[in-house]
Amino acid sequence: MKIIGTGSAVPEHIVDNNMLSQILDTSDEWITTRTGIQRRHIMSNEYLIDLAIEASRNAIAMSGVNPKEIDFIICSNVASNYVTPALSTIVEGAVGCECPCIDLNGACAGFIYALDYADAYFVSRGARNILVVCAEEPTRFVNWKQRENCVLFGDGAGAVVLTRGNNLLASRLRSISNKEVITYRRRLERTPYETEGVNVDEPLIMNGREVFRMAVTASQQDLMHVLEHAGVAPQDVKYYMLHQANQRIIDSIQEHMHLPQKKFPSIIAEYGNTSSASIPIMMDLMNRKGELHDGDLIALSAFGAGFVSAAALLRWAK
Ligand code: ACO
Repeated sequence: MKIIGTGSAVPEHIVDNNMLSQILDTSDEWITTRTGIQRRHIMSNEYLIDLAIEASRNAIAMSGVNPKEIDFIICSNVASNYVTPALSTIVEGAVGCECPCIDLNGACAGFIYALDYADAYFVSRGARNILVVCAEEPTRFVNWKQRENCVLFGDGAGAVVLTRGNNLLASRLRSISNKEVITYRRRLERTPYETEGVNVDEPLIMNGREVFRMAVTASQQDLMHVLEHAGVAPQDVKYYMLHQANQRIIDSIQEHMHLPQKKFPSIIAEYGNTSSASIPIMMDLMNRKGELHDGDLIALSAFGAGFVSAAALLRWAK
């Protein structure tokens, strides 16, 4: 597969660290030093599905592909106000596609999981084009009284249109079952037969230090795996597009890999952690600025609740 169109969309409302310090016991200094985040786009009166549709339309327009020639839609989403139908089916109707659709939850690694699935679908089903859209609103599942979590996140959607090609050089998906590090549980409707408190409502719980440690370790391992598999030297990669969770995580991976900082682009200061949307949003911003060129080698790496991690190595080509 290869990427022939990118798009993104974010909520209008921008919240900087000083605005957060008016509603929480926190400070710009703490957030900037610990995370690199300065501001983020946060949902107010929007629906996530509208951001997913806007990002998808932008990606389809750039690709020049007729929506009727898109043969599969994958939407990566952790949680939204739609439990069913799948967000991908709503996007399908709004953008004028007529094809099978599926939502997947690969947590913050969902974009790379979706690229890997899409690549397999090109082979197994002979698809012509595939739309991948990542739409996330983590600010709607954090507890806004827990300062250690809610300051980290932002919302948004990023999309790509893929067509046939051999530009996914290597990929690796992993999952190590560990729900203690990041968990979010929603209470569903009660059945008349419940007698115990099994059906709980619990906003995001995260062991930040443990996530930090696991993320740095997993990302380096995954990146080295795909580089070795493809026979590519680390310095030959133009950009390492990492999940935008924390600037210190990105810096730590860069330092451990002994590579220059300019190879590790970052949008975390302006967007915060937008879960699986973070890499496709960054990819779209860079693509529209003309920073991605034919032949560039791009490595992707992401990690999140599960604990899942994933990496991919792409050759950029339009
Ligand atoms: N403002 C001010 N003080 C705070 C805040 C805040 N927003 N949050 C926590 N503190 C305080 C704590 O209460 C603690 O105070 P104490 O020393 O008096 O007890 C102090 O700051 C230090 O807290 P730590 O948790 O030790 O801070 P740490 O340096 O580990 O940074 C952080 C916390 C930013 C969460 C870090 O661990 C991290 O980034 N981890 C990775 C998290 C992550 O990336 N998650 C997402 C990945 S997966 C996904 O995307 C869903």
